Amino acid sequence: MEYLFANITKLFESSAVRDILKVVSQGDVISFAGGLPYDELFPVQAVEQAYRCVFESGKKSMQYGLTEGFIPLREKIAERMGQKGISVDVNNIMLTTGSQQVIDLFSRIMLNPGDTILTENPTYLAALQVFNSYEAKIVAVETDDEGMKQEDLENKIKQHQPKFVYVVPTFSNPAGRVWSLERRKHLVSLAKKYNVLILEDDPYGEIKFHPEETYTPLAALDDAGIVLYTSTFSKTVVPALRTGWVAGPLEVIRMMARSKQAADLHSSSLDQQALYYLLRDFDLDSHISNIRTEYHKRMQVMQGQLASVELPGLSYVSPKGGMFFWIKLHEKINTTLLFEEAVKKGVAYVPGAPFYVGKPEHNTMRLNFTHATPDKIRQGMQQLVEVVEHAYSALKVEQ
Ligand SMILES: Cc1ncc(COP(=O)(O)O)c(C=O)c1O
Repeated sequence: MEYLFANITKLFESSAVRDILKVVSQGDVISFAGGLPYDELFPVQAVEQAYRCVFESGKKSMQYGLTEGFIPLREKIAERMGQKGISVDVNNIMLTTGSQQVIDLFSRIMLNPGDTILTENPTYLAALQVFNSYEAKIVAVETDDEGMKQEDLENKIKQHQPKFVYVVPTFSNPAGRVWSLERRKHLVSLAKKYNVLILEDDPYGEIKFHPEETYTPLAALDDAGIVLYTSTFSKTVVPALRTGWVAGPLEVIRMMARSKQAADLHSSSLDQQALYYLLRDFDLDSHISNIRTEYHKRMQVMQGQLASVELPGLSYVSPKGGMFFWIKLHEKINTTLLFEEAVKKGVAYVPGAPFYVGKPEHNTMRLNFTHATPDKIRQGMQQLVEVVEHAYSALKVEQ
C-alpha cells in the first residue's frame, strides 16, 4: 500500500531527544539526555489519594467536561499565579494536555504558512518542531546569558513583523538561562510598541535553587494583553498527568478553545479533577521545596565534576534552576559525531545542534542533572569526560 500522506507531513521531524531516549532506554546507559524529573520524588501517595477522591465523588466525574477544563482546578491555578504576581481570571485560563499542546494550539490559531516567529537561540527543540510543522519562518534573535539582545530584537521585530516571539525566560531549555529583569521589561515594551504577541513558556520557573530570588514572569509585566503564559504540572507533580495550562487574553483563549475542540474536545478531566484534589489536600509548595533541594544538590554534584576538568574551550554557566547544564567545547569537537562513542562507553547526552535555529554550534551539548542519582552523575560524568578527552587528543586540540 502506498500511503499518500499530506504534503505537510514532510515537515514533521522526529525529535532528536525522543530518538535518543529510545536508544538510551534499551541498554545499561547512564542518561543525561532526557528532561526527566527524578521518579523517586513523585508524590505517589498524594496522587493515589487524589484519584481516590475523584472516584468517591461519583459518576459525574466520569462525564465529558468543558473544553477549557475543570473549573476548580483553574481556580487553584489562578490563585497560584496570583502569588507569582500574575493577576488572572479563571475564564482566561484553559487546561491543556501539557504545555506542549499550548505551543501547538497557539501556533495553529496564529500562523499562516510563511509567517515569522522570533525565538531565542538555542531554544526548545519541540517548539521548533511545532513551528516548522505550521510552515512558519523561524528567525533567531541573538541571545546571551541575560536573554535576547535588545538591539537585535528590535531590528528583527521591525524587519520581520513577527506574529509572535517565543521565549523561555526562566531556566531555559536547553541553555538553563535566566533573563534579567531589564531584558524582560524591554521585550514586553517592544511587543507593546510593535503590536506583537509573546508566548511565554514557563515549565521550570518553580524549580529554582535560590528561592529568595524572584524572576518576574513576563505575564506579570503585561498590561496590554500581549503575553500568553503557559506552564505545567509535569515538573512539579508528575509528567504522566499531562496537565498544563495557558493564561492570556480572553479573545486568544477563546480561539484556542475552538481549536482544542477540533483537536481533542478536552484533556482528561479525570486527571484534572485528581490534580484539583491534590492541590486541595497536599502541600505542593513544600513538595516543590524538596524538589528544589534535591535538584540543587545534583546540579552541584555535576558542577563539581565539571570543575575538575580542564579542557581548552570548555565553558558553561551553572544553572540557578531548571534541569540542564549547557556545555560548550572546543569548536573542533562535534558532539553529534561523539554521541555514539559516548553511548558505547555507557553515557548519553543530547547533542546541541538540533536546538539551534539556522547554523548550529556543533560543539555544544545538553546535560540533564535531575534524573540520575548523585552516584550515577559522578560515574556518568567520569565516563563522559573520558570520551571527550579522547576526542580532544584524537583531534589534537590544544588551544
Ligand atoms: C521549554 C519546555 N516547554 C514545554 C515543555 C512541555 O512540557 P509538558 O508538555 O510536559 O507540559 C517542556 C518539556 O520538557 C519544555 O522543556
